[in-house]
Amino acid sequence: MTTPTIELKPSAHPLSDAERRTILADPGFGRHFTDHMVTVKWTEGRGWHDGQLVPYAPLALDPATMVLHYAQEIFEGLKAYRQPDGSVATFRPEKNALRFQASARRLGMPELPVETFTEACDALVRQDREWVPGHGGEESLYLRPFMIATEVGLGVRPANEYLFLVIASPAGAYFSGGLKPVSIWISEDRVRAVPGGMGDAKTGGNYAASLLAQAEAATKGCDQVCYLDAVEHRWVEELGGMNLYFVYGDRIVTPSLTGSILEGVTRDSLLTVARDLGYRAEEGRVSVDQWQRDSENGTLTEVFACGTAAVITPVGTVKRAGAEWRQSGGETGAVTQRLRDALLDIQRGTAPDPHGWMHRLA
Ligand SMILES: Cc1ncc(COP(=O)(O)O)c(C=O)c1O
Repeated sequence: MTTPTIELKPSAHPLSDAERRTILADPGFGRHFTDHMVTVKWTEGRGWHDGQLVPYAPLALDPATMVLHYAQEIFEGLKAYRQPDGSVATFRPEKNALRFQASARRLGMPELPVETFTEACDALVRQDREWVPGHGGEESLYLRPFMIATEVGLGVRPANEYLFLVIASPAGAYFSGGLKPVSIWISEDRVRAVPGGMGDAKTGGNYAASLLAQAEAATKGCDQVCYLDAVEHRWVEELGGMNLYFVYGDRIVTPSLTGSILEGVTRDSLLTVARDLGYRAEEGRVSVDQWQRDSENGTLTEVFACGTAAVITPVGTVKRAGAEWRQSGGETGAVTQRLRDALLDIQRGTAPDPHGWMHRLA
């Protein structure tokens, strides 16, 4: 398989500096998009071809395009951070590229070579580098690579044409004015993923399946929903868009990858960062009853969620049917804060990068 080289066809009408600066002053999340996007096609027999960087624009799709009917779609999320010397670096893009390949396998889609994934992200960040917020804060440029089935037809089978795209959106600090613990509703009836299903793939269907439970969490006064395993409704899996960690003093535990949990890049990075800082970091099983009991008896000292969007989010109030408790007195725990600072410092380039995670662009 040949690796396409991205042909650069930049916009003749990018936003003015003043317009871009106005957006960057308060970007929010996922509300604004940069001037360009990258597209790469795949067709059966020809493989990956026609990689282009073009002006950001709507797609024209036939109403019978397969993705609109059978949801053959996968995506990724990663960030580019401004470094102290003004350069830009993305965080572990190869990890996202490998997860993208795993998602593609699960959905019967063609695997994009790791080099093409990184080349596409690099081309977009280089072209739109002025969109990467300044160094020092928690702002970043969020990259959204994704792939859709573009064959036209209503037959139910893997498509024979696909389109890979990368778009980018400036992201403000997730928490303005300091870390704020999130409240969690533990859903004991609805599940996100089942054994043999596609919970470990990053595909839109998993998020569609999570929206109702997320809305129910909101009616319980909670920010996020936590899913349990689909068989026993007992073992803690993850949140709708973040993995979980349980802190027992100097030991931290995250639910093992069972096939129905998304293997988060942040989750994986924290296993290493925590060990570097001298904590015992483990994968294991935590039941919902254990969570409640250990919180109440004080052995479970902190709980936090982690993911690309917020890096680390402390968990404050936890609710399940018939019970409610507060984690760490509803405050951000010391371990949570320390791990968050350590990972963010690597990403912002203010701490050494001993594991070679930062992918520097010119
Ligand atoms: C379901 C789910 N779990 C976990 C994560 C965290 O993954 P990562 O750390 O790679 O962002 C995400 C976010 O991407 C997610 O959507």
